[in-house]
Amino acid sequence: MSALQVSRHPLVQDKITRLREAARSPETFRMLVGQVTTLLLYEALADLTVTPHTVQTPVAECQGARLGQQVGFVPVLRAGLGMMPAALEHVPNAQVWCLGMYRDEERLIPMPYYDKMPEHPTADLYCVLDIMLATGGSACDAIARVQRYGKPVRLVSLIAAPEGVRKVAAEHPDTNVYVGALDSHLNEKGYIVPGLGDAGDRYFNTLG
Ligand code: PRP
Ligand code: URA
Repeated sequence: MSALQVSRHPLVQDKITRLREAARSPETFRMLVGQVTTLLLYEALADLTVTPHTVQTPVAECQGARLGQQVGFVPVLRAGLGMMPAALEHVPNAQVWCLGMYRDEERLIPMPYYDKMPEHPTADLYCVLDIMLATGGSACDAIARVQRYGKPVRLVSLIAAPEGVRKVAAEHPDTNVYVGALDSHLNEKGYIVPGLGDAGDRYFNTLG
């Protein structure tokens, strides 16, 4: 059974509530996506190893630590791209492997259109990023593409539906899942209720 961590942090709850509001401007929506991503990655990457690193401060030598593992971020296009500025702000040396897929809105299954994942990857762990975990189809497809490397895989999503959480747990029991909110259910169109609508369209301001 994959571990599910639903953030109870007041900052996450506050920001996700603001993110949900239909009247949010794209500018604020983008800002909040970045801020919640930062807060969720704080938990998702809490067990990264560090290596000793000595620096000279203006006052004395300091025995510090630097990240000891190579992180691979795997944003699922499009919406996952919105999480990347925050992710790279905190892990600037991370590898980034984009996966392109959109949901067939009739059958609610992922339609892959871009995957340049390497034959012999060098990251120590992979973090799949997607704003929404709805049916779980997109997340499971993305996780499957990185899990074959035999490295730890985490999934970070801002909002999840129980249906998606169950699918990831069933198909990828070794993947830890970090979400900002666990919502009620999916509606007949596969949208998360209450959710925030179409994350990609809201982030990229393409609502039409
Ligand atoms: C959205 C979202 C996820 C997917 C989640 O993508 O960004 O990738 O739906 O749904 P699922 O769990 O049922 O697979 P969408 O297909 O809208 O593409 P977009 O991000 O390019 O708008
Ligand atoms: N994708 C979205 O962007 N929103 C949903 O509610 C479900 C899938």
